[in-house]
Amino acid sequence: MEKNPNQYNGDVLVVPKKGNTTKQVYIESYGCQMNFADSEVVAAILSDEGYQTVGEPQDADLILLNTCSIREKAEQTVRNRLVHLKTYKKNNTALKVGVLGCMAERLKHKFLEEEKIVDIVVGPDAYKDLPNLLTEAEANREAVNVLLSKEETYGDIAPVRLQSNGVTAFVSITRGCDNMCTFCVVPFTRGRERSRDPKSILAEIQQLADQGFKEITLLGQNVDSYLWYGGGLKKDFTKASSLQQQTAIDFAQLLALVAEAQPKMRIRFSTSNPQDMSIDVLHTMAKYNNICKYIHLPVQSGNNRILKKMNRLHTREEYMELIDNVRNIIPNCGLSHDMIAGFPTETEEEHQDTLSLMDYVKYDFGFMFAYSERPGTLAARKFEDDIPEATKKRRLNEIIALQQQHSAHRTQQFIGTTPTVLIEKSSRKSAEHWSGRTTQNTVVVFPKENYNVGDFVQVKIVDATAATLIGKPLGLSDEI
Ligand code: SAH
Ligand code: F3S
Repeated sequence: MEKNPNQYNGDVLVVPKKGNTTKQVYIESYGCQMNFADSEVVAAILSDEGYQTVGEPQDADLILLNTCSIREKAEQTVRNRLVHLKTYKKNNTALKVGVLGCMAERLKHKFLEEEKIVDIVVGPDAYKDLPNLLTEAEANREAVNVLLSKEETYGDIAPVRLQSNGVTAFVSITRGCDNMCTFCVVPFTRGRERSRDPKSILAEIQQLADQGFKEITLLGQNVDSYLWYGGGLKKDFTKASSLQQQTAIDFAQLLALVAEAQPKMRIRFSTSNPQDMSIDVLHTMAKYNNICKYIHLPVQSGNNRILKKMNRLHTREEYMELIDNVRNIIPNCGLSHDMIAGFPTETEEEHQDTLSLMDYVKYDFGFMFAYSERPGTLAARKFEDDIPEATKKRRLNEIIALQQQHSAHRTQQFIGTTPTVLIEKSSRKSAEHWSGRTTQNTVVVFPKENYNVGDFVQVKIVDATAATLIGKPLGLSDEI
């Protein structure tokens, strides 16, 4: 995952013009990859209504913000953006502004009261209702739908690929989360966990392959708990018929199905959860060379008391054992983490446990955050947010500094090797260089020569920073 999954990256989404379109929508996405994937579903639903997606808000009849609630800062970013959008509404009184995603779900009707600029509020499971809500908004009636669903997976909608490089794409396989980590707002904003029909997953990937895509990332809050037995919630699996139980498909099986169906495509997935990641998944990764050797495995803390208070259902020792298994079964596997600094009551010693766990794993990279209390979560209701901001920040900085060291250590190990790199785009720093990734998800830049976006190239690594490998292309690669 090259993109911090939780930070606005400023992407503006654009779809090519369709025939007979009369209206224009501008969509801005914040937060996790799932939100970016959802915006592609929203673009598809609106395209059927005659909306064309545009790259600038000033041209739009409809502005949609697909929002994130994961930390307070993410919500503040959206609120600031709404203030900014006021000028567009002044210049175009017919303009409608909608908020989608987790903030819409969390704040519901309150959004209309708090942010006068907002006309439409739609939660993550209600996007199919957008056409009706637009009609309501146009008649100046309240347009809010934040119903969560136990079934909706949008499996029947072919997403419109937005701002695509034509090489990599996201494919949702589950929605929602049942884990109830005490700090996390996602189970409240995205509802119960449900899995998507493997047939529709395979069909979407086939379509991407036909369009020339080379890499897909299977997305879910917790991909390891994927379970398809004919529909319904995972928790109801015990009530399924015996035939349904016998023919059920778990994540390891789904991975194998996708890998076999698309031997020429790279397959990634995110996010893995240590409590659910099975040895079967590791063996499946090892078996298929087109499944990328990279796992994003958030741990949040290295201390058992804090892990328990977070309702993470594994211990430090179990996590380390899982890491040992990864190292044994998939040598050279790239690993990344999410970490939270300053969870309520965390002591200095407990913070040191986080640092020592990081030393044990030596992750390739990580996403690191200061604890942010989220209204309605168990942590907010039960635990005082008692770690001073300055302490949180200092601990976070220590975590980040250690990760920098580990990242540099990992990238140094690549020097002299000749990995296969899938070219994704021009390097941000130099128009003469391509940027792509190794199977471990490490970014590589190298001179463009005669290679093209979408090529698999064997690259000799000659230098490295903590975040990027610098290489020389040796030729097209037979491997992927
Ligand atoms: N399973 C999800 C996790 C989503 S949240 C996934 O697909 O990645 C992403 C990360 O945000 C979490 O792993 C956690 O490290 C961080 N996070 C969540 N809630 C937080 C909070 N209240 N304060 C700080 N960080 C938080
Ligand atoms: Fe959040 Fe934990 Fe689920 S971090 S998304 S409740 S796995």
